[in-house]
Amino acid sequence: MTDVAERAAAGFRTRYGEPPAGRWAAPGRVNLIGEHTDYNDGFVLPFALPLRTVAAAAGQDGARWTVWSELSDETVTFGADEVAEPGRVTGWGAYVAGVVWALRDAGHDVPGARLAIASDVPLGAGLSSSAALEAAVLTALVDLGGLDLPAERQPRLAQRAENVYVGAPTGIMDQSAAIRCRDGHALFLDCRTEEVEHIPFDLHAAGLAMLVVDSHAPHRHADGEYAARRRSCEAGAARLGVPALRDVGIDQLDTALARLDDPETRRRVRHVVTEDQRVLDTVALLRAGRVREIGPLLTASHVSMRDDFEITVPEIDTAVEAALAAGALGARMTGGGFGGCVLALVEVDAAEAVADAVTAAYAKKGFPAPGHVTVLPAGGATRLD
Ligand code: GLA
Repeated sequence: MTDVAERAAAGFRTRYGEPPAGRWAAPGRVNLIGEHTDYNDGFVLPFALPLRTVAAAAGQDGARWTVWSELSDETVTFGADEVAEPGRVTGWGAYVAGVVWALRDAGHDVPGARLAIASDVPLGAGLSSSAALEAAVLTALVDLGGLDLPAERQPRLAQRAENVYVGAPTGIMDQSAAIRCRDGHALFLDCRTEEVEHIPFDLHAAGLAMLVVDSHAPHRHADGEYAARRRSCEAGAARLGVPALRDVGIDQLDTALARLDDPETRRRVRHVVTEDQRVLDTVALLRAGRVREIGPLLTASHVSMRDDFEITVPEIDTAVEAALAAGALGARMTGGGFGGCVLALVEVDAAEAVADAVTAAYAKKGFPAPGHVTVLPAGGATRLD
């Protein structure tokens, strides 16, 4: 298939009869560790994938936005009325209209624009194709309009597009990863202060590879379950009298758990508090250059998501168990849960054998075959030309 940036430019020329003024790319992400901690004001450690969404764009007169996407080969057009209030544009166009809405709502004078979107980020695989789309469109509009919106303020705005316009109650991790990640690094983000530290994550130098297994599990009730987990966490924080679960330190965990009578809330709280600590421990190991030692933390994160947060599914657990049995140093589900992808940290020479072991375990259980790819950390949203 032609390069994604080429496809965006070609789509633009076919649709609008002239070349674009520029192209902007934003990546999908995986999260190394720190799951469901972002909306608890905690810590996350995602990195950007080399798979990207590209927006080829140019201005147009008036408050009008026209967007073509190669995925559906559809063109969506909207004007000031549709972005005056959330929810008027639906489907994939809502992510684009949501960005325009959020920019205007924050007082920016958003230029009218024509856009053509192409993407290598698979949909529904838990790799944040929606944040990649939001970030590509946002950076395009910011540049085309010369808007005063530095990169560190862009994730919050893209998150508002998703929370308020699209109506998905997600945290700030995915948009931060799509915008702020750096090549060769994982992004250590404090989701309360939005401070970041770029942590060197040189798998190659350590003789390691990161295998991403796409579980191909259908997302079962993912939206409703995500919202329910968020509500449980907020209820737990309220019961404990803290602004967010981030405020419960690991050394206060036992006392905190003893104050909660609902066993389900206890499990949810335990996941979040221990997961925040695992992010901090992973960062400490990476800062010390001890990359291969992070494996057990990844696996412990998976066990916590499986048993305490209860967001894994049989395909995902099968992939993790098979990867570990085949020699992975650590493995975990990445992303919101109920499907999506598994990360396995492997010796570079073992990547294929681990992938084959997962495929064999799937076949034995009669699951449709999984996909897999090895990845290195890539950079965040950027203007290509
Ligand atoms: C989804 C959300 C993120 C985050 C993860 C779980 O990807 O979009 O904000 O909550 O789930 O860590």
